[in-house]
Amino acid sequence: MSFVRGLACKECGTAYPVTARMICDECFGPVEVAYDYAAMRGKVTRASIESGPRSLWRYKDLLPIEGEPKAGPRSGFTPLVRAERLGRELGVPELYLKDDSANYPTASYKDRVVAVAITRAIEFGFDTVGCASTGNLAHAVAAHSAAAGLRAVIFIPHDLETGKVTATLVFGPRLVKIRGNYDDVNRLCTQIADEYGWAIVNVNLRPYYTEGAKTHGFEIAEQLGWRLPKHTVIPVAGGTILPKVWKAYRELIDLGLVSDDGPRIHASQAAGCDPVARAILSGATTFQPQKPRTIAKSIAIGNPADGPYAIRVVRDSGGSAASASDEEILAAIERLARTEGIFTEPAGGTTLACAIKLIESGVIPRDEPICVSITGNGLKTIEAQEGRLPEVPVIEAKLEAFAAIAQDMPRAAERAGTRQD
Ligand SMILES: Cc1ncc(COP(=O)(O)O)c(C=O)c1O
Ligand SMILES: [Zn+2]
Repeated sequence: MSFVRGLACKECGTAYPVTARMICDECFGPVEVAYDYAAMRGKVTRASIESGPRSLWRYKDLLPIEGEPKAGPRSGFTPLVRAERLGRELGVPELYLKDDSANYPTASYKDRVVAVAITRAIEFGFDTVGCASTGNLAHAVAAHSAAAGLRAVIFIPHDLETGKVTATLVFGPRLVKIRGNYDDVNRLCTQIADEYGWAIVNVNLRPYYTEGAKTHGFEIAEQLGWRLPKHTVIPVAGGTILPKVWKAYRELIDLGLVSDDGPRIHASQAAGCDPVARAILSGATTFQPQKPRTIAKSIAIGNPADGPYAIRVVRDSGGSAASASDEEILAAIERLARTEGIFTEPAGGTTLACAIKLIESGVIPRDEPICVSITGNGLKTIEAQEGRLPEVPVIEAKLEAFAAIAQDMPRAAERAGTRQD
């Protein structure tokens, strides 16, 4: 059984039935899924969730599907890592990383939103799905639609990383590169959704798609032992995940599953595309669109559809924002790799770099629990690190050849003092 009651406009509240619709006819505001929370009370419990599968579908009662999940049976429930080595470096005793770089099957947070959107697309009877993407969504739509036996038509800006293009193409979708940036791609996709009648997951299925992002927040709370971190630092591209993590926290509080200790949400963006962070820092309620120029291509959205909601959530929660330069992003990627053994892409580097700035400037106190959302995997964006890592020596397969380059590497026995001879 489903607790979904319909769709409702986020601005004027006009109610709509459960159909493929993104915009309110009355005020052109975005529509969102409405649930019967009263009916959930007592039925959706810690125990009911814990008895579910080890995937995002353990939160099925809080997601907008009618029947059984039809995509992403192994997506979500990614690790929440206690980052002790990085935390020690930063002087933060309770530092956590929600690691969606380990999401299945496409190694980014987008496996969550696509699992929900494709399930809903199948319930609506669509046979073709698509998306406008900065790369990770393309990868996820291609994989999940292949597994579900649906046709996929995917639109991306022309200049994405090769890893993301190859990782998408291998699943056999129709992939189209658009001359322009993400905002141009998105505009075209809105027209295509109308003209062709396909399920474009982040356009006409957007109300269902965005709900999948709540599972990132549900998992943080459950994996912390049904507790919310005082601070959550989240990246902003289109502005989906940030407000949805907040919504997840609020739903768990309202259902009595966690206590309300005033969780704060902080926004992170790349300095080359930071309309939301700028608006927050200047106290504005709306943002000025930008033309993106950053290596963090997956979050390079200059005119974010849900940007105003990201701004509102940060303000309502008492959070803040930061933006990070390309150099800071790359340095944060390498720092995370060296301290925690996690290789993230520039979106994750952005979030960590911004979290470090907020900690070092005292905006986030070091002695409070902090969770940083790592939303993508560095294996898809290896060109970002090009020219920054040490040259790799090539030597003959001889011990002397190795010894000649190993003067700075102490022998284990000398270091440990256990050598016998
Ligand atoms: C790796 C990664 N992180 C974060 C985001 C944030 O997206 P949004 O703000 O649209 O939820 C994206 C979007 O494409 C992404 O690819
Ligand atoms: Zn409306």
